[in-house]
Amino acid sequence: MLKKEFKEIYEKIESLMSQALKNSAHPYRTFSLASIDEKMPSLRTVVLRDFSLEENHFDCHSDLRSPKIKQLEKNNEFSALFYSSEKKIQLRFKGNVEIFHKNSITCYMGPYNPSDTLEEYHPNIPDNVQFKDPTEQDSLSGYNNFVIIRCHFYEIDFLKLKYSGHQRCKFILDKEKINVSWVAP
Ligand SMILES: Cc1cc2nc3c(=O)[nH]c(=O)nc-3n(C[C@H](O)[C@H](O)[C@H](O)COP(=O)(O)O)c2cc1C
Repeated sequence: MLKKEFKEIYEKIESLMSQALKNSAHPYRTFSLASIDEKMPSLRTVVLRDFSLEENHFDCHSDLRSPKIKQLEKNNEFSALFYSSEKKIQLRFKGNVEIFHKNSITCYMGPYNPSDTLEEYHPNIPDNVQFKDPTEQDSLSGYNNFVIIRCHFYEIDFLKLKYSGHQRCKFILDKEKINVSWVAP
């Protein structure tokens, strides 16, 4: 059972993430997802697609051929960063990803592998569907590249900037219970 002050923060996190799923203009709708590339951190912006605080995971979508997938297949540890300048709240998540392939109706049809070097500019949309809807056959080929990156998190670092004194705490999520403590901001 969380103390009242921590419970309020925990509920705030849930509320902000849920709002971001409903509102594409919400600052948490996109976030920075970090993986490990050999020994280097590697970062990119992705779109938040699902979130469950009860099940301790959130999702983003990607292309199977992208470098991040190769990195995450090698080392599935991730870190994710969200910030709202309006609310002055930063959330940092840590955990392990699970990658789902070929189990969704969405698709990626780009003719090039994401992050491939190009000799000249190309929007990476197949020419035949650039200005019209894709056919079923087009979608099928893109379906093969589509993946869901499920980020299972076990730690949330919450930081709220305040004139009267910043507020920071860390939640460690265990299967059975939630451990939380104040951390020096
Ligand atoms: C606002 C914004 C949203 C993005 N959303 C996604 C996304 O949801 N999934 C994705 O794979 N790439 C997304 N990208 C592109 C990535 O940031 C990145 O450039 C691309 O995925 C290649 O990353 P990688 O080389 O690390 O695999 C987005 C970029 C921006 C600027």
